[in-house]
Amino acid sequence: MELNPLNADLIIKELEDTVFSKIIILDEVDSTNELAKRIIKEEKPQEGILIIAEDQSAGKGRMKRRWWSKKYLNLLFSLLLKPKIDRRLGFSLNMAAAISFVEAIKEIYDIEVMIKWPNDLYIKEKKLAGILTEFFLEGNLLSYVIIGMGINVNWAPEREDMIYPATCLAKEKGMYIKREPILVEGLKKFDRYYKDILSNHLEELYEKWNKKCMILGKEVLVRDKDREIKGIALRVEKDGTLIVKVADKEVKILYGDVSIIMQN
Ligand code: BTN
Repeated sequence: MELNPLNADLIIKELEDTVFSKIIILDEVDSTNELAKRIIKEEKPQEGILIIAEDQSAGKGRMKRRWWSKKYLNLLFSLLLKPKIDRRLGFSLNMAAAISFVEAIKEIYDIEVMIKWPNDLYIKEKKLAGILTEFFLEGNLLSYVIIGMGINVNWAPEREDMIYPATCLAKEKGMYIKREPILVEGLKKFDRYYKDILSNHLEELYEKWNKKCMILGKEVLVRDKDREIKGIALRVEKDGTLIVKVADKEVKILYGDVSIIMQN
């Protein structure tokens, strides 16, 4: 497998006109999300920092899980944003990140990627990417938001302690995949959706996200901290709440892990 570091000059040039006015590319860090948090604490930065790492010694997933990767093979990055929008619009930022990369991967590699609520990217039944978003509040407004994303481009973990099987783009295409085009195209698209969110134009984003959400209309099992809910996934509301039909009632689920129940 080729081990090529990311081309920093190309990334900086391609993202010149986007919200990312500062781009940090590191060989290794504990976690790009943790670094973003330290920057917020120490520098109270302005809008739009992109932090990319070739490797993470303590990559974090949702629900206190680890995120695994291999140096120079995948994409690991955090977007540090300062959106000053109502906290209830926070989930739309997840939606923007997910749909941007779904569209970028479809355009560049013609691979159909779906979104599994709340914000995993899947190819068929295998996980391709994950998003970990952390919000900071100032009253009812978001002050800072960190959107951390890991995309398995050329390597996918195969570990027994993983709940979901994983895949990577290289496996799906049967060839080495250059990382820069996906990163750049995905972030250019994100930049456009982000501007829509800031100007409260959310309909197109919601519509596209819902079309790509793989669980809607399916029988699902959702586990949150202390419940297991089985029913039909009906819709995802604008604030990210999943609505599941159980018997004849609609149950609201704020967060959790969802599996699709396969019918034979
Ligand atoms: C998940 O699926 O559980 C979310 C995974 C998020 C992983 C990314 S990799 C870059 C950023 N830094 C981290 O420590 N985590 C996120």
